[in-house]
Amino acid sequence: MRVTYHGHSTVYVEVGGKRIIIDPFLNRNPTAVVKAEEIKADYIILTHGHGDHTEDAITIAKQNKATVIAVHELSEYMLWNGIDSHGMSIGGGYTFDFGHVRLTQAFHSSSIENEETQSFIYAGMPAGVLISGDGKTIYHAGDTGLFSDMKLIGELYTPDLAFLPIGDNYTMGPREALLAAEWTKVRTVIPIHYNTFPLIRQDGHQFTVECAKRGIRGIELTPGSSYTVE
Ligand code: NI
Ligand code: MN
Repeated sequence: MRVTYHGHSTVYVEVGGKRIIIDPFLNRNPTAVVKAEEIKADYIILTHGHGDHTEDAITIAKQNKATVIAVHELSEYMLWNGIDSHGMSIGGGYTFDFGHVRLTQAFHSSSIENEETQSFIYAGMPAGVLISGDGKTIYHAGDTGLFSDMKLIGELYTPDLAFLPIGDNYTMGPREALLAAEWTKVRTVIPIHYNTFPLIRQDGHQFTVECAKRGIRGIELTPGSSYTVE
């Protein structure tokens, strides 16, 4: 399994001979080095409805005939937009042709915002995602605050690698993410959802130093760079 970070929460995963993009936010993401039009994907996994996680999903889905995987309401929204979509719910898992996906809880909100009508479309519960394939398991926490049931994720699924938000303000900050890394029993952590905008500025290097003190490998991936899950 190989992962490529594209800045913010966007992660590209190559597993089981398929290509998956999680939370595509590229064209208006100031840190991304690729455009949505360049992405080749078979599946798109969305953790929640916010624009900084879904904005390029429809473009990528249409150009690749890709299948979206998301919580039921967000999945239905994609179907209404002519996108092939597979709905799931928190706690549920399903085996796809590339491997297994399970949605976990996330403490956040989830909606699709319509500025013109000043309204929100309810997008279901926000989620994290566990992807297992090629003998490895990764955890993408989505946008979330810290929650102690992350200990259950550690006990039940013991991910090899976790993508954890450290940006603070909208999600966990670095201090909480360190606990999340310990509780999920991961060996390797890649920080996400930081330094995209001034509001979520954090020292990613310092976070990896703090990880090392706890016997966890923290890797600060620059947008566009890849890591092979060991
Ligand atoms: Ni969000
Ligand atoms: Mn976000």
